[in-house]
Amino acid sequence: MFSPIERIKENGRTKLSDVSENIRETTENILNSLERTVNELLDRHPKRESDIRNIQQLLLLKGERDLRYWMKKRQDNGEKFLKEFSISAEFFQRKFFELMALLEEVPQDGSVLDIACGTGDIAILAAMRGQKTIGIELNPSQIRMGKFYAQKLGIEVDLRVGNLLEGDLPAADHWVAKHPCAKGIALPDEILKRWESVDSAHTLTCMTCCQGKAQDSFPGYSGIDANEWKHLCRVSDWTNNSDEMKRFDGQVAMDKIDAFRVGFLREQGLSAEVKKVEGTIKGNMICCSRR
Ligand SMILES: C[S@@+](CC[C@H](N)C(=O)[O-])C[C@H]1O[C@@H](n2cnc3c(N)ncnc32)[C@H](O)[C@@H]1O
Repeated sequence: MFSPIERIKENGRTKLSDVSENIRETTENILNSLERTVNELLDRHPKRESDIRNIQQLLLLKGERDLRYWMKKRQDNGEKFLKEFSISAEFFQRKFFELMALLEEVPQDGSVLDIACGTGDIAILAAMRGQKTIGIELNPSQIRMGKFYAQKLGIEVDLRVGNLLEGDLPAADHWVAKHPCAKGIALPDEILKRWESVDSAHTLTCMTCCQGKAQDSFPGYSGIDANEWKHLCRVSDWTNNSDEMKRFDGQVAMDKIDAFRVGFLREQGLSAEVKKVEGTIKGNMICCSRR
């Protein structure tokens, strides 16, 4: 019986580098960089070896599957995929840091709910730790893909299609949301407000992202009005800008938005703070717990 990493690695190479001759050099560079990231993290955090190995497996699996899927769909030799999706060594490194930081915040005891889970990265990684996990996501194709990854990794995880705005969310000790966003709805704010009202959920970790799509959805926090909120949301989109100064302004806007969120939770008597994941573009985490 092969372990997942052995299934991904064959003859000492991962399948990612075997996908296409045309992009062999790029994929080899990405893989070498990923290996270096893993080794550096293992040196710095020896006690987190299993999280580090699990993230490595998941990223390799997703990278390979996404590459094959898009190449087939677009009759691409891989170059378009790498360019359009900005897939690079830095991309994988950023993903790695985000996932490491989020997992560090999620207590290892108790169940986990991954909200707006996409393909269920956090649900899958928490399940790989042995935790009972549920992921909820609006888009059925994301859930299908997440189930495929879980099956490839040989783990049990409950990934469900669902709308987090409707009905009760499945019960869990720890709620996590990574980059929740939607057009016209301030999704992180909806999640914070729901968590605040559910006593059985002990912690919430929400990694936020730019809010331009939700600029008209003012959550009504005190100390700011709808116009100012809209402005901050617009500017927060600059976190993707190629201009360094604009990126900086985008980050400042995101910091302000997140400060209002934390302020709201603290007003309810809850413990909340913003933590930053260095080396990432959208790495603000709102970390909350019930005192
Ligand atoms: C930027 S993606 C992040 C996905 C995933 N958490 C990740 O980090 O890879 C935002 C996700 O929120 C989902 N979403 C948007 N509105 C939702 C809703 N009302 N209920 C559940 N999921 C929703 C989208 O379908 C999308 O997959």
